[in-house]
Amino acid sequence: MPRSLNPVFAERPVTIFAVMSALANEHGAINLGQGFPDEDGPRALLDAAARFVVEGPNQYAPVTGIPELRQAVARANGRFYGLDVDWERETLVVSGATEGLAASFLAFLQPGDEAIVLAPFYDSYAPMIEAAGARARPINLEPPDWRLAEEALAAAITPKTKLIAVNSPHNPTGKVLADDELALIADVCRAHDLIAVCDEVYEHLIFDGRPHRPLMTLPGMRERTVRIGSAGKTFSLTGWRIGYATGPEHLIAGLVKAHQFVAYTTPAHLQRAVALGLDFGDDYYERFVAEMQQKRDRMRAGLEAAGFDVLPCEGTYFMTVDIRSVGYDGDDMAFCREITQKAKVAAVPVSSFYHPAAPGPRRYARFCFCKKDDVLEEAARRLKSYFG
Ligand SMILES: Cc1ncc(COP(=O)(O)O)c(C=O)c1O
Repeated sequence: MPRSLNPVFAERPVTIFAVMSALANEHGAINLGQGFPDEDGPRALLDAAARFVVEGPNQYAPVTGIPELRQAVARANGRFYGLDVDWERETLVVSGATEGLAASFLAFLQPGDEAIVLAPFYDSYAPMIEAAGARARPINLEPPDWRLAEEALAAAITPKTKLIAVNSPHNPTGKVLADDELALIADVCRAHDLIAVCDEVYEHLIFDGRPHRPLMTLPGMRERTVRIGSAGKTFSLTGWRIGYATGPEHLIAGLVKAHQFVAYTTPAHLQRAVALGLDFGDDYYERFVAEMQQKRDRMRAGLEAAGFDVLPCEGTYFMTVDIRSVGYDGDDMAFCREITQKAKVAAVPVSSFYHPAAPGPRRYARFCFCKKDDVLEEAARRLKSYFG
């Protein structure tokens, strides 16, 4: 008899992204399931990284990250959000936002604590909260606008609540939290002395000219918020695994202690290249969001032409559809399998972004649109011919 494994992980399936990507490969489907761009980020960063591999450093970087990148993170906080950040005390380089989130939950939570998550949510949150011995308390948001209701938030708070994880722009829905929703979260954090862990990996992907407003900029939130960004998302380099956390000194100091045992350090040459990217001029950031907005519009038009009701998409590179709108009456998992195998386009079921103890609706599918225009066109053509 093998000895039993940690049920937090053993009882969860492999991620839906791996499942749908494997199915897409097997059936020659266009993979609009997993969220990664099919074109690499800026050539200048690729060239710089290649140069830095040769130049070094190629040994362990400092645990907290190299000063060049931490200084660039502090500057970016000032430039984009008016935040005054001390790079030596208030920043940390992490090995992708996923590691930054995991280290945050391990650093801030203890057995007996509760952490609020807004469902649907990025799939690493609940297992890592539970790995810390804490309980994830999901608030299921309601489509189509996924608004956070004051009563729902109030009902989720208990004397054990320690932390809230906030993701805006939001994966998988493409929602951007409205100012009044941010204000509500801030009120609750202040009233109950909560830590906010803000997953802002899509901070530079908000459409229609809307600015990103970090929760950290709201009154009383600077001292209780850790904001996590991702070079993978901001520079279309998801395989580099570079992220960055910003927060008050006491939280960053705690986070460093978890990070040192989870990742220890992050490749220094890639950090050097990302530092250059954060200092890119506004033209880079404006072009990046404009190109992605065009892709969003192309995807929406294609899905609508195939007969889908498409939910609003204000940011990220994901878009959700109601599968009932094309007359499908099975669940979203079966739908995603069917379109991967038969229409040859892969998507992921939104029901997989919920906590197992609080399942969500089974009628939405998420399509990823950070793909070449001809790939999006071909996917739309296949869906139209399948459902049309
Ligand atoms: C909401 C959200 N958070 C975090 C991540 C992970 O970011 P990283 O690749 O930097 O680990 C993703 C990636 O899909 C995401 O969608």
